[in-house]
Amino acid sequence: MPVAESTVTDLPRGLPLRGEVRVPGDKSISHRALILSALASGKSMIYGSNTGADVAATAAALTALGSACVITDKGSVEVEGCGPDGLHEPAGILDCGNSGTTLRTLLGVCAAVDGLSVLSGDRSLRARPMMRVVAPLRRLGAHIDGRGGGEFPPLAVRGGRLTGTAIETGVASAQVKTALLLAGLSAEGETRVVEPEKSRDHTERMLAAAGVDVRVDGTAVSVRGGTSPSARDRRVPGDVSSALFLIVAAVIVPGSDLVVRDVGLNPTRTGALVVLREMGADVEIVIDDEWAGEPVGSIRARSSELHGTVVGPEGVAALIDEVPVLAVAAAVAAGDTTFTGMAELRVKESDRVAAMVDGLRSVGVDAEELSDGFIVRGPARFHGAEIDSRDDHRVAMAFAVADQVAEGSIKISGWSSVETSFPEFLDVLAKAQRAQ
Ligand code: S3P
Repeated sequence: MPVAESTVTDLPRGLPLRGEVRVPGDKSISHRALILSALASGKSMIYGSNTGADVAATAAALTALGSACVITDKGSVEVEGCGPDGLHEPAGILDCGNSGTTLRTLLGVCAAVDGLSVLSGDRSLRARPMMRVVAPLRRLGAHIDGRGGGEFPPLAVRGGRLTGTAIETGVASAQVKTALLLAGLSAEGETRVVEPEKSRDHTERMLAAAGVDVRVDGTAVSVRGGTSPSARDRRVPGDVSSALFLIVAAVIVPGSDLVVRDVGLNPTRTGALVVLREMGADVEIVIDDEWAGEPVGSIRARSSELHGTVVGPEGVAALIDEVPVLAVAAAVAAGDTTFTGMAELRVKESDRVAAMVDGLRSVGVDAEELSDGFIVRGPARFHGAEIDSRDDHRVAMAFAVADQVAEGSIKISGWSSVETSFPEFLDVLAKAQRAQ
């Protein structure tokens, strides 16, 4: 695979990050806005949708299934929904690219679409576990086959009648929960999903805002079949996971005082901000609005002296995507930071435990791999090196943050992976550098 070298080191290092910035629309919410709009009858507009490749893959797949998704402007998408029974057999393979959310959630949709749908993706996605969603969908009556008995894509779904049932997912996964709830909308009777720990709840919030009767009881969520979301316009808040790269950069670069505006501050997503505060970071949150059932506001971060902490095993779902950048914060913090209860990190876009430990070691950090996490022993000063992002956007951006305080240039292979979630990352970082 060709290795694209980073341009990140073209940015000056160590300049304070100041002023106000915005980040692209929340990726999780954007996927859901597209899917719910496609299942509704009539036109919905989505404003501020994420501009990366993952969300584009969902839009293309929904279009192939018969619901026109047209990007009218950067971040604005017009979706002509075709109603709950209007989707049809796609003419080709649904290419989900690098996006686990696209593939897993659309499995739940395709399970009820008459005909054959085949879903696949890039090399990373074809190595990610799918039985967590295939097995419970089969319990609803879905016909799914694939490599390894259905563990790995390509996956073939023969759509048909589904019957609601109660399912305990063995894993706290919003992708699995969403697939089941979406399938449940077309199933007969009630579908009840119980998770071991609450995962992000964007689907429940958006379904409720679109008029679907969703019952939430602790870690259990249920819907009844035969109901469909109504068409409506939605505004997507900024992605807190993307904001975290800038927030950590502001915390570790001396002299910074940065505000990120219009960010989604759903408590199922903000665990990393709690951890940063525990580490001594000067981070403030103000919730000042609500968009489509989601709390929205701003985050202010100022440079701070950090100390080590213990992250997990409780509350891991609320910060799982932020672990790579928290690991960078942990490396500059005084003392040890232990990350545990995160076996899920090994099956993300890359094995993020190995990717972060290897990358941190190559820039001079004392880091130790555990089976379900890792230990970082700070404080470290990063030296220049070339690290392998393993084509994982969050690993790449985490090391771009480290580069900001490194003594020499950190080069990042596989930099183009940032296109999946935050193509504007370097522009936003440069804007914060210019605002002196
Ligand atoms: C996502 C859920 C999380 C997260 C992923 C996006 C979603 O994965 O890591 O980046 O949009 O539902 P799991 O639900 O599999 O934990």
